[in-house]
Amino acid sequence: MTTPALSVDRLAAGYDNGPVLHGVSLSVAPGEVVALLGPNGAGKSTTLRAISGLIRVMDGEIRLAGSNLASLSPSARARAGIVHVPEDRGLFRGLTVAEHLRLGPRKEKLDADAAYEYFPALKPIAGRMAGVLSGGEQQMLAMGRALGRTPRVLLLDELSLGLAPVIVEGLLPVVRAYATEHQCAVLLVEQHVHLALGIADRAYLMANGVSSSSYDAHVLRNDMTLVQASYLGGPEWASEFKDETRLPFIGEEVHE
Ligand SMILES: Nc1ncnc2c1ncn2[C@@H]1O[C@H](COP(=O)(O)OP(=O)(O)OP(=O)(O)O)[C@@H](O)[C@H]1O
Ligand SMILES: [Mg+2]
Repeated sequence: MTTPALSVDRLAAGYDNGPVLHGVSLSVAPGEVVALLGPNGAGKSTTLRAISGLIRVMDGEIRLAGSNLASLSPSARARAGIVHVPEDRGLFRGLTVAEHLRLGPRKEKLDADAAYEYFPALKPIAGRMAGVLSGGEQQMLAMGRALGRTPRVLLLDELSLGLAPVIVEGLLPVVRAYATEHQCAVLLVEQHVHLALGIADRAYLMANGVSSSSYDAHVLRNDMTLVQASYLGGPEWASEFKDETRLPFIGEEVHE
C-alpha cells in the first residue's frame, strides 16, 4: 500500500462567515497528477488554501506523507514541501524575474537554474519587472518559482486564468513531466477540463463544498456527463455518478 503524499479526509473549512467545505476527501500519490474540477464557487480554491494552511480547518484532517499538518503554520508547510501557486500567481509587480528566482518566499531555498531549465523563455526576460510581463510569461515565472522550490506537493490553482489554450497546452506537459520525474504529487484546479484531464491520472469532482470519489482521468474524458453533472450542481449531482467507474481510494481494501 502506497502512503499518499497528500491526503485530505472529511475536510470542513471556510471563512469568518462559516464553512464552505462540508466534506472534502481526496488523496494524491507521489508522482501523480490529480485534477480537482467543478463549477465556480464549488470550493476548489478554498480546498487548496486549507491544505497550504491559509485558512482554518474546522473539521477533518490533512496529511503530508501520513503526518497530520494541523499544528503547522503556512510557512512550516511550505518548508515541508507544500508549494501553492494561487489564482493571482503570487508575484510582485515591482520585482524582476531574476529577483523572483533569487529567493523563495520567507527566505526558502530556490533553485533558479532549475526554474530557467523548465522555462527557458524566462532567461531573456530575466531583467524585466513581473508587472510588465504578459499573462503567459507571468504564469511561467510563477511556475518556475514553484518548481525551483522542489515541491513534494504542488497545488496549482487555475494555471490557465487569462491565458490562451495554446499557452496552457504548453505549460501542462511541464507539470506532468515534473510530477513523474520528481515523484511530486500535483493537485491541479483547472477550468480547461479537457486539457487538465489530458495530463491527469485521476480527478475528483466538486460541487457545493463536497468532493466526489475519484475517477480515472480517461474515464471522465470519454464520458463528460459526469463532469457536466457536477457543473450543473444541485443535490442530485452525486447520484449521477456511476459506481462502476469509481476507483478505490489509496489504501482502501478492494473486495473482488
Ligand atoms: N475570503 C473569503 N471570504 C468569504 N467567503 C469566501 C472567501 N473566498 C471564497 N469564499 C466563498 O467560498 C465559496 C467557495 O469559493 P472558492 O473560491 O473556493 O470556489 P472555487 O471553486 O475556487 O470557484 P472558482 O472556480 O470561481 O474559482 C464561494 O461561495 C465563495 O464566495
Ligand atoms: Mg477558485
